[in-house]
Amino acid sequence: MNRGLFAYLFIFSLLWGCGESTISPDLNLVEINNPVFDEHIEPIIYKNCTPCHRQNGGAPFELTSYKKVKSKARTIAKVTALRYMPPWPADPSYRHFIGEKRLTNQEIELIGRWVKNGCPKGERPNRLLSTVKPFVSALGKPDLVLPLDSIHLIQGDEDRFFLTKVSANIPNKRFVRAVELIPGKRDLMHHFNGHLINYREGSKNPFDTRPRKVEITVGRNPDELKSLDLMTDDGIIPERVHSVVNYLPGVTGVMYPEGIGTFEVNKQFSIIGNDVHYGPSAKSVIDQSKLHLFFTDTPPKRGIGELMLGTNGVSKIEPPLIIEPNTVSTHVTRFQVPADISVLTVNPHMHLLGRSLKAYALKPNGDTIRLIHIPKWDFRWQYFYTFEKMVKVPKGSVILVEATFDNTTNNPFNPHDPPQRVSERFEYGGSSMKAEDEMFQFIITYLGYQAGDENISLKP
Ligand code: HEC
Repeated sequence: MNRGLFAYLFIFSLLWGCGESTISPDLNLVEINNPVFDEHIEPIIYKNCTPCHRQNGGAPFELTSYKKVKSKARTIAKVTALRYMPPWPADPSYRHFIGEKRLTNQEIELIGRWVKNGCPKGERPNRLLSTVKPFVSALGKPDLVLPLDSIHLIQGDEDRFFLTKVSANIPNKRFVRAVELIPGKRDLMHHFNGHLINYREGSKNPFDTRPRKVEITVGRNPDELKSLDLMTDDGIIPERVHSVVNYLPGVTGVMYPEGIGTFEVNKQFSIIGNDVHYGPSAKSVIDQSKLHLFFTDTPPKRGIGELMLGTNGVSKIEPPLIIEPNTVSTHVTRFQVPADISVLTVNPHMHLLGRSLKAYALKPNGDTIRLIHIPKWDFRWQYFYTFEKMVKVPKGSVILVEATFDNTTNNPFNPHDPPQRVSERFEYGGSSMKAEDEMFQFIITYLGYQAGDENISLKP
């Protein structure tokens, strides 16, 4: 285990304790005194670890054979007992989501016992693990792959921001069911938000499909129209369809039931990557990210709306997001829903001072709808949490989000030593997205409510 992580785990175990790791052995498992790899451990690793710990899966090493798991056994016992792995910051006793990665106390106990007993192999190891393939896509085989312009990240760089454009020329108009971003360097890409531009047929634009990028630097707001060649020769600035793809660390593509969130692309279209954000790099590398598009013949039925609370959003933060040094402070943002909606996903967003977050809706009749609780915020895992079924939030409900920020030296992620005053910082109209500034945002994707929505499963 690297030293940094060790310090982090240690500090966390002191600070917040390891709430859920007070392990209560399940009666059935008390019998399994001598767990063996093939029967007891391999299925746990296969289900909960190999989605990432495989080739191109984003984790730094593979857990795809008995030998590989055994060589990391002691660390595995530690990180699972601390619930550092698999990474799943949302509290499952508050709300369940699709793709929840969470070991039961019993599974953790089994792993610990197996390691203590010297990692017995069993008779037929690797039956499951030998079937693990390199990661290609979370959504199956893409119909169209669009490579983005490569970006050279240099050792010692600070955060860097880009606008990118990728274009396609396809034989016919198509309906797109999902777009998935596959980052080249998962440990460096922090954010990608993509907008669609459809070009009219017959516009005079000599359509240029080369990928483009332009760097955004402080104090200079690039002229996107010029630097990305967005305007057609007949002077038309095509309209954008917002947020056809979104990426944050740990996010994998989502596909909704047929007809939901589907959109149309013309024969010639571009996807603009807005505020593409990379964190500082420890070495010089080239990021070669790409977009996967999934087509469908089912036309769009219902469009997805996006509601953003907090920083840059529709609701203000109270008190304003200024966090004085050596303080822990709690801030709230609230929004009254003007019509019945069906919520699909929630995505809480804070930076390095974030410590915990809770969101819920208060219905006009006083009932509470639980949305999400993150007891220990981790900047590195910021999923778009997808509900198992759509969640109806009726007209007049107030969505409340409470977030706590820790600007003391107890916070191992505090970017400033000694702590400094930190706040949101706005540059050319938007918020600075640098990790050392703060943000408090809560993004909800939703549909206009239709009777029966609360029974529609969002499971793939
Ligand atoms: C969502 C992806 C994901 C899943 C699922 C996942 N890991 Fe990881 N794991 C990572 C990444 C990324 C890192 C490296 C960054 C870090 O340490 O936070 C990592 C690091 C680790 C480390 C190294 C810690 C260190 O620094 O020494 C261990 C051990 C580990 N994982 C074990 C597991 C086990 C065991 C499981 C399943 C029970 C699991 N992981 C599930 C992504 C994942």
